Amino acid sequence: MLHRTKQVLRRWAGILLGRRAPGVKSSRQVEGIPGRVHLADTMFDPSDPRGIEYYLRAGRSAIDVMLGTLEEAGVAPSEIDRLLDYGCGYGRVLRHLPEAFPEASYVACDLDARAVAFCAEEFGATAVIAPEQPSRLKLPQCDLIWGGSVWTHLPEAECRELFASLSQALEPGGLLIFSFHGAFAANNLHFLFGGAFAEDSEIIRGEIQNGGMAYRSYPEAYLTLGEGSYGTSWHQPDFFRRLADAMPGLHEVRFVPQGWDAFHDVIAFRRDPLRRS
Ligand SMILES: C[S@@+](CC[C@H](N)C(=O)[O-])C[C@H]1O[C@@H](n2cnc3c(N)ncnc32)[C@H](O)[C@@H]1O
Repeated sequence: MLHRTKQVLRRWAGILLGRRAPGVKSSRQVEGIPGRVHLADTMFDPSDPRGIEYYLRAGRSAIDVMLGTLEEAGVAPSEIDRLLDYGCGYGRVLRHLPEAFPEASYVACDLDARAVAFCAEEFGATAVIAPEQPSRLKLPQCDLIWGGSVWTHLPEAECRELFASLSQALEPGGLLIFSFHGAFAANNLHFLFGGAFAEDSEIIRGEIQNGGMAYRSYPEAYLTLGEGSYGTSWHQPDFFRRLADAMPGLHEVRFVPQGWDAFHDVIAFRRDPLRRS
């Protein structure tokens, strides 16, 4: 609570002293969307007549799946003191968090330093720029970690490292909730992703069946990551269950096929409330 108050005060002091981040100049208010929208936010398509609706729907759906998971785990939203949006982008989800968790403080973490700076200035979050290797992540301990569409882009080694690093950043009783491309995405490659994987669909499904996941890299570099380090991934939930089995005191609390915006599967794990790492 005290931390949150300090964040709000810092934000307003910045505004009053005319020290808003340079990112805020590159953003604008869009009717119906809480908070400003950055011009570099690729999750919002202003040319689409339904762009606002899609953007809001994804943000709110993430909140719904988080709240549903907390309910299932018997945790009240007021028990969440620190909430991390991992892979926050320009805050498509983060901007809705205060509605559901008004008492919490927020941490915004992403590879994209400009996105993190924008989320810090616009939404009062603590900024953490993610390292290229998830095993090098340094995070404050959190009560709730949301990861929306991050494992959907990573190769296998990074998927494993990220799961371990985020699990270790959970407070006792804390929850890790995240999305991934599951059966719906893998079974509809003929029309999803612009049809880019249609020809390869049988092979991709075979890889998922045999190895728990499949990955196809984008042909270009992404931010500071070299070519081949970023792309599209698909997983079976068992891939993550096996990772959780190797983490003492971590238990699955929920799996929701197509739980995020009727597209991504969502899985949630909870750290044993009694165990301290
Ligand atoms: C598809 S976007 C989703 C952004 C945001 N979660 C949302 O729902 O709008 C994926 C985000 O994950 C970030 N990202 C990808 N790999 C990451 C990593 N290893 N660590 C932190 N962020 C990462 C990207 O920079 C990007 O902002």
